[in-house]
Amino acid sequence: MAKKLCIKTYGCQMNVYDSGRMADLLAPLGYDTTEDAGEADLVILNTCHIREKAAEKVYSDVGRLRNLRAERMAEGGAPMTIAVAGCTAQAEGAEIMRRAPAVDLVVGPQAYHRLPELIARAHRSKGEALDTDFPVDSKFDHLPQQNRVEGSAAFLTVQEGCDKFCTFCVVPYTRGAETSRAVDAVLAEARHLAALGAQEITLLGQNVNAYHGAAPGGGNEAWSLGRLVHALAEIPGIARIRYTTSHPRDMDDELIEAHGRLPQLMPFLHLPVQSGSDRILEAMNRRHTADDYRRVIERLRKARPDIALSSDFIVGFPGESEREFQATLDLAREIGFAQAYSFKYSARPGTPASMMPDSLSEEVKADRLARLQAVIADSQKAFNDACVGKRMAVLFDRPGRRAGQMVGRSPYMQAVHAEVPAHMAGRILDVIIDSAHPNSLGGTLADPAEAAA
Ligand code: SAH
Ligand code: SF4
Ligand code: F3S
Repeated sequence: MAKKLCIKTYGCQMNVYDSGRMADLLAPLGYDTTEDAGEADLVILNTCHIREKAAEKVYSDVGRLRNLRAERMAEGGAPMTIAVAGCTAQAEGAEIMRRAPAVDLVVGPQAYHRLPELIARAHRSKGEALDTDFPVDSKFDHLPQQNRVEGSAAFLTVQEGCDKFCTFCVVPYTRGAETSRAVDAVLAEARHLAALGAQEITLLGQNVNAYHGAAPGGGNEAWSLGRLVHALAEIPGIARIRYTTSHPRDMDDELIEAHGRLPQLMPFLHLPVQSGSDRILEAMNRRHTADDYRRVIERLRKARPDIALSSDFIVGFPGESEREFQATLDLAREIGFAQAYSFKYSARPGTPASMMPDSLSEEVKADRLARLQAVIADSQKAFNDACVGKRMAVLFDRPGRRAGQMVGRSPYMQAVHAEVPAHMAGRILDVIIDSAHPNSLGGTLADPAEAAA
């Protein structure tokens, strides 16, 4: 009998990938996906634990689902199983079960291949349906193949977990130790995705450029990400390759050279720096200086002069002085990011930084965040403005807001709107950019005959 599955996804792209894989795993059990929790037999909240706000969301969501379920059952409707997955499940599984009794099952990010069994257990007796192991056998060995690609672009997780232990971060605890999938498994999945119509593949990992997967055919040799990217570029049909998220320390020569050599490797890199102050970087245990970061950027620009950069910043780390914050503003101005994310520091239970004194007031953090965001908005605008008049290859994969329009992605991850017939979805077309907006570009097809064909 057909059942309905609703997955709500929070957090990073790894969670987006995991949600897709959970849907693939449950499809053979008769679960069709739906966006509407109200009609779902099973709702999975795929949670994020990175900042306090993200983690608290699970409790308000569960409250809403509990009410929805009660209303539906009062009207004689079907029951609903409520599952919590993802990083908050890993960090607070037992507490979630206690604080939110409406939750039927909890599954951590490394154990979701056991979901079918957990669902059965939850239906028998809910006390047993908690699985936050880091199993020795990888979930990847137990998951079915991805069976759909939406809009010509797909994610592919190649690395998981993190051994870097930045002092503010929960990821090493929620995702566990760093592991890489074998090259053969990655290439097989990439070929499969290409066969399903993926033209752009984004390799995912919490620390993706620390990739060191077992070489094809086994053996003790490991491949770096640079080497993997070369092999992926040979797969017919894969026109674009991206990877995220990288750590500055792991940008090795092979990977930087790949940016110069491989046209498939997109000239856009998300490379979090967090702070421009060496003292703060050290307190964060990032294990590089601001100048180390500048040098990596220099090498990247030398290999691929048109590369655009993105980053993550944390403001208001414990003890951050105004001068140290100024160093962050200086670095952001100097590099000129095409886009960047910035966050107020959020103390996370169990992390070394949460034990550090000198936490700053909300006002100071909010003020610094606003100032940094103004600098980032300026450089983003400058970057978008500089695109006007240029010719860019755009992968069109979504309908636009107006009829006759489609939206696609530039090599630099900008959204580009243009008049493109709907049947061109999934094509990479050259566009002349004629307008720039804060978060998108507008353009005209360079060769309209190509679209008519
Ligand atoms: N693995 C990636 C990103 C992990 S989380 C990396 O190393 O860069 C994504 C971003 O969230 C981080 O880059 C950081 O800027 C932010 N972040 C992580 N922990 C945080 C915390 N405790 N408070 C505020 N922001 C945080
Ligand atoms: Fe977190 Fe640092 Fe690992 Fe990134 S590198 S996931 S910020 S511990
Ligand atoms: Fe959040 Fe976990 Fe990703 S904490 S950012 S969902 S790795």
